[in-house]
Amino acid sequence: MSRTPVVGGNWKLNTNRQQARALLTALRASLDGLGGVELVVCPPAPWLGDASDLLDGSSLSVGAQNVHAEPAGAFTGEQSAAILAGTVSHVIVGHSERRHVFGESDETVAAKLRSVLDAGLRPLLAVGELQEEREAGWTAAVLRRQLTSAFEALDGLPEGFVVAYEPVWAIGTGLTATPEIAQEACAQVRSMIEERFDATTAEATRIQYGGSVTPGSVVQLAAQPDIDGALVGGASLDADSFTAICSAVAEAAAR
Ligand code: PGA
Repeated sequence: MSRTPVVGGNWKLNTNRQQARALLTALRASLDGLGGVELVVCPPAPWLGDASDLLDGSSLSVGAQNVHAEPAGAFTGEQSAAILAGTVSHVIVGHSERRHVFGESDETVAAKLRSVLDAGLRPLLAVGELQEEREAGWTAAVLRRQLTSAFEALDGLPEGFVVAYEPVWAIGTGLTATPEIAQEACAQVRSMIEERFDATTAEATRIQYGGSVTPGSVVQLAAQPDIDGALVGGASLDADSFTAICSAVAEAAAR
């Protein structure tokens, strides 16, 4: 098994321009050239151009946190995959805050995923259950529903496709899922991808864990066989923490 893990830093609605530039510069200094792991930094949309310039020629990629499904048109305030394509290589699609704070349906997420793939960009497709869904024993059913919808119109997944399993109850709460819980859900996601496509696709898909990942918690998470990296929110805003997380993931992959 030789999947390259992926660590994403989702800055969400944080940083002013000066802070963003300083963080990007610090991340380049500490992480450029780190082997065995793919790194994607996702600042707020207005700083994507700065990110692309400041990380140009480095091993760090730039991702957007969101996208509009339509390629162009009268959609004030939105960015399409075609617009993002000149600046970023990756796009987070279906983050739980998009689904649950902004009311994005499974169908909207599927349309966004298609638009990202059509534009030749690389999605990080986020899925995950709410606390009440986990307590009701519905985790697998929720993951299946989200994946089935997202993949509905797709004939296959591009090589190295990334899914981020992010239990909603663990995001921004400090409640990291235990390595066992995270591993179980990531293995379920992989087997659902095998059912929907084939074993080769499932084996090649990178499945990140996300939800209150810290330099401390990532070590055991990254050691799980079906966890291929992390999607990091809060801890990605601190250069030292994000660097420690990325280094730990690279180390786990080298074992
Ligand atoms: P968190 O966010 O690390 O702050 O919990 C994770 C995410 O939303 O991707």
